[in-house]
Amino acid sequence: MSNVHVSPHPLVAHKLSLLRQASTEPKKFRQLIKELAALLVYEATLDLATEPVEIETPIMRTTAYRLQEKIGLVPILRAGLGMVEGIWELMPSAEVWHIGLYRDERTLKPVEYYNKLPTEPTVSVCLILDPMLATGGSAVATVDILKRWGAKKIKFVGLIAAPEGIQAMQSAHPDVPIYVAHIDERLNEHGYIVPGLGDAGDRQFGTA
Ligand code: PRP
Ligand code: URA
Repeated sequence: MSNVHVSPHPLVAHKLSLLRQASTEPKKFRQLIKELAALLVYEATLDLATEPVEIETPIMRTTAYRLQEKIGLVPILRAGLGMVEGIWELMPSAEVWHIGLYRDERTLKPVEYYNKLPTEPTVSVCLILDPMLATGGSAVATVDILKRWGAKKIKFVGLIAAPEGIQAMQSAHPDVPIYVAHIDERLNEHGYIVPGLGDAGDRQFGTA
């Protein structure tokens, strides 16, 4: 699969196994989501452009490098919210633009309920954050929104993907790279990822 990156990191595998366990309570679940998001974003941002900058160390003047790109974090509400904090600690000047979508339980189609993007793009790279890529409907709709906004460089950062979601993203938006911790077996008849972790929003917010 081109443009799909599954983390090879042992720490990611370890934390994901804790996250999946039904016995992991919301506080620990939120902590793990935060830590996993930071680890995955490290892999998802390896190709960000830098520019030279002259700095003064205590020893001498030298050339160092700073980020050239303006980063926008785009969490898909609700579950994507938990991924923001860990990433924001690494890149505190990133802008955060929330997109509110929920999946209709019957049709499994995404329904948009929140979008306050300004008229013009204000960032050069958008990182869509959502722990679960199931049918792919929510991710595809978010990329549609960002492309209509004028975003040129978009990446999807998630935790668990179903093959169906990867397929949907790759046929709708083959230019958008996908970074995840794991690709699971399939979706069940209710559109849940198997083996997955259940409902990522409910488990974070204690609403199961
Ligand atoms: C979950 C998840 C994704 C979506 C994935 O959100 O966080 O946004 O489902 O499913 P899809 O790939 O089939 O679209 P949900 O709709 O449960 O809303 P929530 O985050 O508010 O709980
Ligand atoms: N959303 C979730 O939170 N979990 C799934 O398995 C599928 C969609």
